[in-house]
Amino acid sequence: MKVGILGSGDVAKALGKGFIKYGHDVMLGTRNKSGLSGWLSENKPALAGSPADTAKFSELLVLAVKGLAAADALRASGPGNFSGKIVIDVTNPIADAAPENGVLKYFTTLDDSLMERLQREFPEARFVKAFSCVGNAFMVDPKFKDGRPSMFICGNDEAAKKVVAGILDRFGWETADMGKAEAARAIEPLCMLWCIPGLLRNEWGHAFKLLH
Ligand SMILES: NC(=O)c1ccc[n+]([C@@H]2O[C@H](COP(=O)([O-])OP(=O)(O)OC[C@H]3O[C@@H](n4cnc5c(N)ncnc54)[C@H](OP(=O)(O)O)[C@@H]3O)[C@@H](O)[C@H]2O)c1
Repeated sequence: MKVGILGSGDVAKALGKGFIKYGHDVMLGTRNKSGLSGWLSENKPALAGSPADTAKFSELLVLAVKGLAAADALRASGPGNFSGKIVIDVTNPIADAAPENGVLKYFTTLDDSLMERLQREFPEARFVKAFSCVGNAFMVDPKFKDGRPSMFICGNDEAAKKVVAGILDRFGWETADMGKAEAARAIEPLCMLWCIPGLLRNEWGHAFKLLH
């Protein structure tokens, strides 16, 4: 598949590398291509382009930008360029305010989520929340002594979630499908929980697992 990834940060780079490893064509979308020159030379044949070029290139789009900039980044990509496409939403609605005792501040409430806002503004896109509740170092081929970790996903389009579950399986995850877009209200705050041991004790080496 042609995978376009909006973003140039650690998540975009980690997922970009993973999609290349598993045989996909990858383009990273950024406002500043020169910042990616080192990464591109180490990750051939990855491409970089503007956000709009990247959305046009993609058969599947990954949204991996700062949460506060998520809607702007999609607007800059041109909604017509990703209409009808699956958009894997990795973002978290982290506010600019400092964490409190290791607990991140969010700009959403428990009755709303960033992914629902994006799905409302871009109704033709098929959003699936995924990869949002783990650090980028574990997104591809996570290795834990307790086995495969669980990735919580949600979204309104069942076929889109099946495609994303297939990618997660390939990347070494068990998929825990939590239902429609509203479930992002519960999934996005898992990032707050995941970050607490890191922010309090510099412990970042964990992931979630749903036991049955
Ligand atoms: N870091 C992790 O391990 C991790 C794990 C799970 C989820 N997440 C979530 O994944 C997302 C990406 O995280 P990250 O750590 O890789 O990067 P980040 O530092 O949160 O974001 C960097 C990206 O945001 C874009 N950006 C910033 N301001 C923008 C604006 N005004 N308009 C358009 N784009 C803007 C930048 O685009 P340009 O390239 O154009 O400058 C850059 O690509 C975040 O939402 C984060 O919460 C992160």
